[in-house]
Amino acid sequence: MSRAKIVAGNWKMNKDYEEGLSLASEIIPMVESEASTGVHAILFPPFVHLHAIASLVKGKNHIYVGGQDCSMHTSGAYTGEVSASMLRSAGASHVLVGHSERRQYYGESSADGALKIAQALAAGLIPVYCVGETKDERLGGQYEEIIARQLQEGLSALSEAQMAHVVIAYEPVWAIGTGLTASPEQAQEVHAMIRGWLRNHFSAQVANHTSILYGGSVNAGNASALFAMEDIDGGLVGGASLKSRDFTDIVKANR
Ligand code: PGA
Repeated sequence: MSRAKIVAGNWKMNKDYEEGLSLASEIIPMVESEASTGVHAILFPPFVHLHAIASLVKGKNHIYVGGQDCSMHTSGAYTGEVSASMLRSAGASHVLVGHSERRQYYGESSADGALKIAQALAAGLIPVYCVGETKDERLGGQYEEIIARQLQEGLSALSEAQMAHVVIAYEPVWAIGTGLTASPEQAQEVHAMIRGWLRNHFSAQVANHTSILYGGSVNAGNASALFAMEDIDGGLVGGASLKSRDFTDIVKANR
């Protein structure tokens, strides 16, 4: 299998500046000692911590920093927004796009996601595009349709060459921050569906090379069983990424 294994930590709106730097300073050497495993670790701190943390990871093997969001615009009068090229110039290599909290609380659509992905790619960032169904959509049995639509609206305008620089995260909304994890089999079913979508809309090559992460209450206890599934290439971790030991254990679980 030639796709990258990734464990990403989404810090969300947690940790003030000093706390964030000290968490990163703890995580970096711990993850670095696991670097021989080849797993890529990505930290997604709040914007204001990003440049300082990027300086800490500079020159380290397999550790990266990203933004939790970026603007759908290039530059200009968009108060409060941060552009993809600003993230890049501050030392980020990745950016989350379409996280369910952005969709739920800020009304972001998959079409917005497509614009952000285009900005990210143009700035040389790797977008991590998040998709996932709500509890009602899962119970109603519509999850495949919902996820296919999110993929279609977010990714279908991209070329095959651009898709080589995109990571996908499947995060069922009902599993985020709730302690309810999708079972490895439930997650695998959706990951295989996403890979099938990539095969149909792009190519077998794109399907085989795209890393697809699972997110939603991943912790040190459940990570290995999830990562053992054929189409799960790693995790996007929220709560457990705020503890250096837990995060490192999850990185280790993705060997
Ligand atoms: P959680 O969050 O691990 O706390 O469920 C995951 C995410 O929202 O990316």
